[in-house]
Amino acid sequence: MTPQQEQALLKACIAARQTKTTTSGPPSQIDTQRYLSAKRFLQELQGLWQRVPTVVLHTSELPRNSYQARDTALGRVIFTRDEEGVVRAFHNVCRHRGSQLVTNEGACEKRLVCPYHAWTYGLDGHLQGVPAESQCFPDLDKSAMGLLAIPCVEKYGFVWLCPTATTTATGDTAEQAVVAHVGEMAADLEWLQLDKLHVCESVPKTWQANWKLLVEGGIETYHFAVAHKKTIAPFFLNNIAVTDQLGQHFRTVIPNRAIDQVAQLPESKQRLRACTHINYNVLGSVGLLVQDEHIDWFRMRPIAADQTEITITSLVPTAKDELSPDQAAHWQKNMAITNTVLDEDFVIGEGIQRSIAQGALTSLQFGTAEWGLKAFNDSVDAYIGPL
Ligand code: FES
Ligand SMILES: [Fe+2]
Repeated sequence: MTPQQEQALLKACIAARQTKTTTSGPPSQIDTQRYLSAKRFLQELQGLWQRVPTVVLHTSELPRNSYQARDTALGRVIFTRDEEGVVRAFHNVCRHRGSQLVTNEGACEKRLVCPYHAWTYGLDGHLQGVPAESQCFPDLDKSAMGLLAIPCVEKYGFVWLCPTATTTATGDTAEQAVVAHVGEMAADLEWLQLDKLHVCESVPKTWQANWKLLVEGGIETYHFAVAHKKTIAPFFLNNIAVTDQLGQHFRTVIPNRAIDQVAQLPESKQRLRACTHINYNVLGSVGLLVQDEHIDWFRMRPIAADQTEITITSLVPTAKDELSPDQAAHWQKNMAITNTVLDEDFVIGEGIQRSIAQGALTSLQFGTAEWGLKAFNDSVDAYIGPL
């Protein structure tokens, strides 16, 4: 985002504050089967989640000569960074008899050793060693038995898995796949400088709700004053936000009460992040809650029509091992607040899932302030067709 775009967004927030309005669109209805149907969930998994580039790691989580294993929409995947800094992704499966190669979360290692018969792979995926090779596998072509790679790339401070990208003679298309996927959101991702941040804390939780219900809570602020009245609502303005659809993604800028002071400052001193929370939703796995000095990143993993894992990770300006005790306490407190507030949203999401599962309600109503929820569902439909 350029300084001019930041200024324009800030002006839009100040105008919304003065007119007490939020970005609006046409009202609509949506079929509850979108959140209940196992068939629909499978279509989303195969047509969207297993195809679009998804973020799995922050760049700071993968130092040189190390690996990390994570559950993804494709199953358990191992990410490695070699001595030269190259990042790769592999299915977590040994080419011998299919044992899980890695059974922990990650470590600093120069090679991966299978726990079954100790076939050994380099961080570049090549099969390096086979115990008793000449006896047991006299004709083995080790060069053809490397780990099964999945295209991936490091971009905008994250490691992206790009299942459908291919490698061509002119270069790796994983980067092109990410750039094409984020589209108009690219300028904002550059502006956030996520590559300069560090993981402070990561909390995974599994919720009994469809992934779309959990996304939708972040695209409107109509619920803010009610659902968050005991936590952060007093710091914000009632249902005032500037929401933009950027291609298939969403940016919701939510001014807080500090906007009145910022509005009095000369333009050169006005900063968007000083008086707003910005919620980004990049279709397929990336949610970002941007605050003044740090960013909370939500990684979503759909498990079933009514089950979703969300990992909330705080990204802060200082590496974890360089934080002073005061800084560490500050970020810990911050993370606790974020978790409490988001739990309020996600508990409501679980409640919606339970109540629509009873079957009495067959459609949900989206009002003018909730236009983004319909637009978000339309973005999903663009991949897999209408319900
Ligand atoms: S299954 Fe991995 S070494 Fe045998
Ligand atoms: Fe909320």
